[in-house]
Amino acid sequence: MAAERKVTTLDVRRRKGNEKLAVVTAYDATMAALLDAAGMDILMVGDSLGMVVQGEDTTLGVTLSDMVYHCRAVTSCQPRAHVVCDLPFMSYQISAEQALESAGVLLKKGRAEAVKLEGGVAMAPTVRRLVEAGIPVMGHIGLTPQSVHQMGGFRVQGRTSDAALELLEDAQALEQAGAYALVLEGIPSAAAAAITRGVGIPTIGIGAGPDTDGQVLVCYDLLGMYRGLAPKFVRHFAELGDAVVQAARTYASEIRAGTFPAPEHTFAMERGHVPPEVQELGKEPPTEPSTEP
Ligand code: KIV
Repeated sequence: MAAERKVTTLDVRRRKGNEKLAVVTAYDATMAALLDAAGMDILMVGDSLGMVVQGEDTTLGVTLSDMVYHCRAVTSCQPRAHVVCDLPFMSYQISAEQALESAGVLLKKGRAEAVKLEGGVAMAPTVRRLVEAGIPVMGHIGLTPQSVHQMGGFRVQGRTSDAALELLEDAQALEQAGAYALVLEGIPSAAAAAITRGVGIPTIGIGAGPDTDGQVLVCYDLLGMYRGLAPKFVRHFAELGDAVVQAARTYASEIRAGTFPAPEHTFAMERGHVPPEVQELGKEPPTEPSTEP
């Protein structure tokens, strides 16, 4: 069967106002391959890994090397989906040149196809610098987790008309700077709908209602595996957390009962190679013909 064609930034752009983009985070090769097999359009290597993989309370401690490590794991499964990698906190805020260097590392070492950064109008010159260097940039506005302390917690943004208007200005500034798509996180659905109408690039919502051009969720949230913070917008499409606990419980009890491993899970000695100590014990183990040439 011919491999399906890779999803590119052009495909993502064309989805504006058309079929919605299905987006999910991924942090390792096994999960990325499964999510890709499900036909996701975009795999997002999010710095949310600081919380769901590293177990921290925020995303602030995630380093550029962490992102390279996880992005390389995701891209190693050669997904059909487009792969976007987050620029972590303080890898791009110092200057546009710092952002360019960090983004270059994500593309060269992590094999990311685009980078995502948080921030609006203030980040527009940085976005322009990356785009001019040939690096596709996805913006991220609204509830921007890297500004958790500035926002006073993980709080919904854009609840007043003035705040919503500011978000629209942020979105338009990012589009003008060359961003090819935008994540809208933690925004009232009416504001997200207005921003989606107000820009010509696709918007991907998380906690932003149904009127964006696509949706993204953290993979462990949609699979019901993450047992930390559970925001209102999260829906579990499965309860794999419970399934993992149940499977591990059965595994442990079979080890203790001696029913695992069973004969079909064990290897035999080659015929004629039974060690004398075993023969002395009077226990002739099963043998099998040599498989060596
Ligand atoms: O870090 C992340 O995973 C994200 C997405 C959830 C949008 O930014």
